[in-house]
Amino acid sequence: MTQRILTNANLWMPDHRVLAGGAVALEHDRICWVGQQLPEAYRDWPSQDLGGDLLTPALIDCHTHLVHGGHRAREFELRLEGASYADIARAGGGILGTVNATRAASEDELVESALPRLDALLAEGVAVIEVKSGYGLDRDTELTMLRAATRLGTLRPVRVVRSFLGAHAIPPEYAGRADAYLDSVCLPTLREAHAQGLVDMVDGFCEGIAFSPAQIERLFDCADALGLPIKLHAEQLSDLGGAAMAARRGARSVEHLEYLATTDAGTLASAGTVAVLLPGAYYALREQRPPPIDALRAAGVAMAVSTDCNPGSSPMSSLLLAMNMACTLFRLTPSEALAGVTGHAAQALGLSADYGAIAPGQRADLLRWAVQTPAELVYRIGFNPLKQRIHGTSPCP
Ligand code: NIG
Ligand code: FE
Repeated sequence: MTQRILTNANLWMPDHRVLAGGAVALEHDRICWVGQQLPEAYRDWPSQDLGGDLLTPALIDCHTHLVHGGHRAREFELRLEGASYADIARAGGGILGTVNATRAASEDELVESALPRLDALLAEGVAVIEVKSGYGLDRDTELTMLRAATRLGTLRPVRVVRSFLGAHAIPPEYAGRADAYLDSVCLPTLREAHAQGLVDMVDGFCEGIAFSPAQIERLFDCADALGLPIKLHAEQLSDLGGAAMAARRGARSVEHLEYLATTDAGTLASAGTVAVLLPGAYYALREQRPPPIDALRAAGVAMAVSTDCNPGSSPMSSLLLAMNMACTLFRLTPSEALAGVTGHAAQALGLSADYGAIAPGQRADLLRWAVQTPAELVYRIGFNPLKQRIHGTSPCP
């Protein structure tokens, strides 16, 4: 059956309101109509009464480091003993610890170890996931990570968006020589990965323990030359002005932003750059300074929410938990959190034409939840009320 109607839903609408008694018509893999009074043309299509359940688009996790070797449980203990994330990084642990474990892993091992994390996200209705490289920091391992990310999309019903994050940290063999690393490894590997069709976006880490804004601009010059969209980890631990620089250069998104100057919110808004909030890293690192949500909201910046699933700063494989944390820790409203994992996350990945809204022309990939409102979806902790994932092509029960 390739045509179907869903009726009596609490529909999450593109304007972030809930439409009670909503109906949706699906044809093949697309939504063809949304409203309350079903037009005559659809009356004989097979239909399913959703009994007032909340219906949302499938979810999007727009910032993950899902593919990586090893774990960082020891680093967790060190932080409990008082070490900071930056202390651990400067001592050669942190991201570089995962670099060693990732370099030692085969492509098959990287895929196998990522699948349980991916499956946890899929069980919550995630249909699109961004996956970064950035734990190789050498040619071969960066390419291996991107191939592993590509394979995940063939093994599970998920669209994988691959970001090249070669500028994530400076590898030990280039310690103190970040520009040499960019010239000799990072930029050539980006060009090669692009030539092999392994890259959708380019990301970097702009921070005192990583790359300066000037170095990130060199990365962005290379991305521009290849015609690849850009995004940036910025203002996580200090304010280097990276987010505003990235926005001025047309970045789709800037991410973390705890130290973003309130005065930079307007720059993000006028560039249409999405602010990706990562409350899992804020929580795990026990940061004290939340991103300037009021300024972002007042400026009209689209805010996305993501797990930042990674082995160190955010070892979290639940987007529902990220939504709860975005509300509890950052004071987003439940509607803002839901927009953050649907429409705004789609915008951050450049996929708004296909994903993130219940609207005609969008992909027919919808979630029926055993709750009625966004607040009911978001307020519980460690609870997944997903009842049914509905595709245009799946049979009517
Ligand atoms: O998004 N901030 C930099 N990168 C990652 C951390 C990765 C790690 O700690 O392994 C992040 O938090
Ligand atoms: Fe990250």
